[in-house]
Amino acid sequence: MSPTEAPNAAGSRPAPESNPGAAGPHPVTLTTSDGGLLTFDCAPGLSVLEAAAEAGAALPASCRQGTCGSCHASVTGGAYELGPHSEQALPARDRERDGVLLCRTFPRGPLTAALPYERSRILYGGVPVREATVTAVEPLAPETVRLELRLDDPDCQFDPGQFMELRLPGSEVKRAYSPANTGNWEGRLEFYVRLREGGHFSSYLAHRARPGDRLTVHGPQGAFGLHETGLRPRWFVAGGTGLAPLLAMVRRMAEWQEPQPARLFLGVNESQDVFGLDELAAVAAELPGFRYEVRVWRPGPGWSGPTGTPAEPLAAALPELAGTAPDLYVCGPPPMVDAVLRAATTAGVPPEQIHRERFLAT
Ligand SMILES: Cc1cc2nc3c(=O)[nH]c(=O)nc-3n(C[C@H](O)[C@H](O)[C@H](O)COP(=O)(O)OP(=O)(O)OC[C@H]3O[C@@H](n4cnc5c(N)ncnc54)[C@H](O)[C@@H]3O)c2cc1C
Ligand code: FES
Repeated sequence: MSPTEAPNAAGSRPAPESNPGAAGPHPVTLTTSDGGLLTFDCAPGLSVLEAAAEAGAALPASCRQGTCGSCHASVTGGAYELGPHSEQALPARDRERDGVLLCRTFPRGPLTAALPYERSRILYGGVPVREATVTAVEPLAPETVRLELRLDDPDCQFDPGQFMELRLPGSEVKRAYSPANTGNWEGRLEFYVRLREGGHFSSYLAHRARPGDRLTVHGPQGAFGLHETGLRPRWFVAGGTGLAPLLAMVRRMAEWQEPQPARLFLGVNESQDVFGLDELAAVAAELPGFRYEVRVWRPGPGWSGPTGTPAEPLAAALPELAGTAPDLYVCGPPPMVDAVLRAATTAGVPPEQIHRERFLAT
């Protein structure tokens, strides 16, 4: 494999190839984790993501500009150029192992790549687009809001871990959010959103959102989700609103009474940021073998529970399994996800058992 790197910052596409004879189109072959094959030609100037869409296959993606990391894959052969992208979306250590962002991957010859998800996550009819009504906007903590929507179409099926893109009324602003509930036939969607200072969607939620507002929902999309690996324990590590997709997963386990032992570690910054305890207690009441704990990084006087980050209890607990590494599902802000990855790798959890979603800017 031979990547050529363009400048590492969001911006324009790489310059056209200097050798016009090699300009393409170039054949691309993508292999899903369950062995599915997707082949198409990538025309000059198109990214692999765009060429797949032109061939009728919508691959998991959100920002389409190298900032969110949702279109991550690994090149297994061929030459390519990587367009501008953020370091958080594709850290250097991933690039060195032929990790790529398909929205920023420009083939320079025949290219093959491995997709870290099953063929069912590729949408051949395009991403569903539906209208929804806001049914609730409630503060859960000073900077965390619970948003509930009802789709006009009651068919609200999705896999826990997937995300939806929500478009603001009368605007082109779209942001990715991961439902905390599970698929249903009432069109119900529940989201936990961390408010960002000055953010477009955050400002809408903080100041203007009201029950009855209309939003456009693009999805479900995304590759994050539960993997079927027999009775291996499933451990979940959440930072802040990263709880949402993991709560959806353990809620699904409770609905289906899945037998794998499950543990969830939730970390928040300050005691006032704690949320989701009733929901976790409800899962624990229904799902035998489910345990959870909450850690506060900078506790105030009102917090008497454990302190620190969720990476610490995880590192302490992993040796308890005596050689049977659990499947790990990790979601939250990039620094927490990275700390958990380090702890898990040090404890010997194989990389293929670690599944993660970073809540990056879209
Ligand atoms: C697949 C996926 C799923 C996501 N699911 C959730 C979810 O369930 N709950 C949730 O709270 N968020 C989630 N996010 C993040 C979310 O999409 C938005 O990035 C976030 O809500 C900010 O949007 P905004 O319009 O308010 O801010 P913007 O207008 O996009 O940005 C405002 C400011 O905040 C900074 N900023 C934006 N996003 C982030 C971020 N994620 N981390 C740190 N700084 C940021 C920007 O750099 C900018 O300075 C998810 C992201 C991805 C990629
Ligand atoms: S879709 Fe490629 S990085 Fe966001």
